[in-house]
Amino acid sequence: MAKDLILAVGASGTVGSAVVQSLKNEGYQVRSTTSKPVKHVGEYVHVNLATGEGTSEALKGVERAFFLSPAGYADHYAILSPLIQEAKRSGLKKVVLMTALGANASESTPFRRAEVELEKSGLTYNIVRPNWFYQNFNTFWAQGIREQGKILLPAGNAKVGFIDARDIAAVMAKLLTTDDQSNRAFDITGPESVDHADVAHAISKVTGKKISYQEIKPEVLKSGLISGGVPKDYAEFLILILGYLREGYNAAINSNVKLVLGREPTGLTKYVNEYKNAWL
Ligand SMILES: NC(=O)c1ccc[n+]([C@@H]2O[C@H](COP(=O)([O-])OP(=O)(O)OC[C@H]3O[C@@H](n4cnc5c(N)ncnc54)[C@H](OP(=O)(O)O)[C@@H]3O)[C@@H](O)[C@H]2O)c1
Repeated sequence: MAKDLILAVGASGTVGSAVVQSLKNEGYQVRSTTSKPVKHVGEYVHVNLATGEGTSEALKGVERAFFLSPAGYADHYAILSPLIQEAKRSGLKKVVLMTALGANASESTPFRRAEVELEKSGLTYNIVRPNWFYQNFNTFWAQGIREQGKILLPAGNAKVGFIDARDIAAVMAKLLTTDDQSNRAFDITGPESVDHADVAHAISKVTGKKISYQEIKPEVLKSGLISGGVPKDYAEFLILILGYLREGYNAAINSNVKLVLGREPTGLTKYVNEYKNAWL
């Protein structure tokens, strides 16, 4: 029997690329979106999530879809609502939406408004709210680690149940291709709660370089982000959620990855061993 065609939004990103790989490994046909120009009709279709351009064409003939709001956009509702509405018009069999841990702390956050829209859409869905990704250390914070030997963040000494993006993607792929857990939201975390000094120590150990965590003031990070080209509203969003992290809201861990995948998620030691080259 032919397997469903699945649309993956943000398919070249940290989570999306691993979702696409997992789905392909299972023999699914995947249509991937990109904001870049696409010359030939093929696996990639052009969609600009900021303007809605290409959304309805991307969903034509698709049976299931993975939605996320790319990093850099603070109004997650403005990004996600047109996708949810189009999925509803197209009568998709299922939508799996990634938001973020804590998205449902208030009904008024842009992420929560998108979640509610999906919950009320009549579509079969899953919502997945991951904790902070381990992969931030080999992407956003990698330059500071390589060049200054420092993780510079306003994170205090708070513990965080960091999760590996590859586990998030595996959860997404499983929920996209199975229906027994439908119409549920899952907060997902890694297997242990560690602070930023623990991560610095683990990176030091694996690279042989002296890496330390140094707390900085939120304003210092904010101005650094803005001068590095991050939109002001997104920099403010990051400062806001780092404030929650610092207060300990991201410390708890749970067993939802195991519930969905039947295996434990990746921990700090395995993550740093597998990404060692990012910090050399
Ligand atoms: N990082 C964390 O610790 C963390 C924790 C919890 C939740 N989250 C959530 O995870 C999401 C980000 O996931 P991610 O890091 O996997 O994604 P990502 O790497 O930021 O982005 C995915 C892709 O989206 C595409 N994109 C960017 N702008 C676009 C546009 N205007 N229209 C269409 N596509 C566009 C880009 O691909 P092209 O260049 O090909 O267009 C990009 O590779 C955010 O919603 C964030 O809140 C992150």
